[in-house]
Amino acid sequence: MSTSSPLLTEILATAVEAAHLGGKVLQDWVGRFSVSEKSRANLVTEADYASQELIHQTIVSRFSDHGFLGEEGLCHESETSDYRWVIDPLDGTSNYVHGFPYYAVSIGVEKSGELVAGVIFDPNRDETFAATIGDGATLNEQPISTSGETDLAATMAMASLPVGGDEHDPAIERFLKSLKHLQTVQRSGSAALNLACVACGRIDAFWSTSLKPWDVAAGVLIVREAGGAITNLEGGRIDIMTPDILATSSRKIGQELTDILN
Ligand code: IPD
Ligand code: CA
Ligand code: CA
Repeated sequence: MSTSSPLLTEILATAVEAAHLGGKVLQDWVGRFSVSEKSRANLVTEADYASQELIHQTIVSRFSDHGFLGEEGLCHESETSDYRWVIDPLDGTSNYVHGFPYYAVSIGVEKSGELVAGVIFDPNRDETFAATIGDGATLNEQPISTSGETDLAATMAMASLPVGGDEHDPAIERFLKSLKHLQTVQRSGSAALNLACVACGRIDAFWSTSLKPWDVAAGVLIVREAGGAITNLEGGRIDIMTPDILATSSRKIGQELTDILN
């Protein structure tokens, strides 16, 4: 049974509705968007902006006093509300541009800086990952949990690497170092979906040192509520405003990876 307050229940319902609307916008733009570069290999399309616009309108029509932080230039600090919505209208833009069906809408909600609700919607698989604080995590409304994997040698992980990093980039060195310890290490192009996959046990670990708050806000809460361990790369408390994250199926894998990656 849900322990969420009526307000938090309404916030989650709104986040789900907004994520679905954003996802529909993304699919409607397939085949007709043009692509620009914000910086080298950092892509953006009309779909990113259109998705953010509709998500924002949907939320603000119900919560006009809340704060907002969205990837595509959305930044509104509220003077009257403790709530802030952290939005990635399209996580995995490179995949989207190339027609590789691994991208998502991600919406996290903070109250006084604490994550209280999160939704990740994958429009290709029609999968909605959701969580509210203290209430567990769900995939299409069914409870989910991490794999619980505790054996590093059996672990399948994903790592996000910085765009355009050279071979001496510490993130690349870390990636190479991890290969001999883990069963499989992949790079997929959507941090939000990677976190969703940790939460439902499809993979056992995900790390990155180059993320933004909108990439992880929803996923951090969803992994936590699914029973996973979330820290920064040094094993300390995570702050979504800083770029590093380590999400694992169990604390044991988290601690062992912390030793390997540092
Ligand atoms: C990107 C994805 C990718 C990560 C990049 C992000 P975007 O988000 O999450 O997995 O490696 O650092 O920027 O740009 O597609 O929203
Ligand atoms: Ca992103
Ligand atoms: Ca994005």
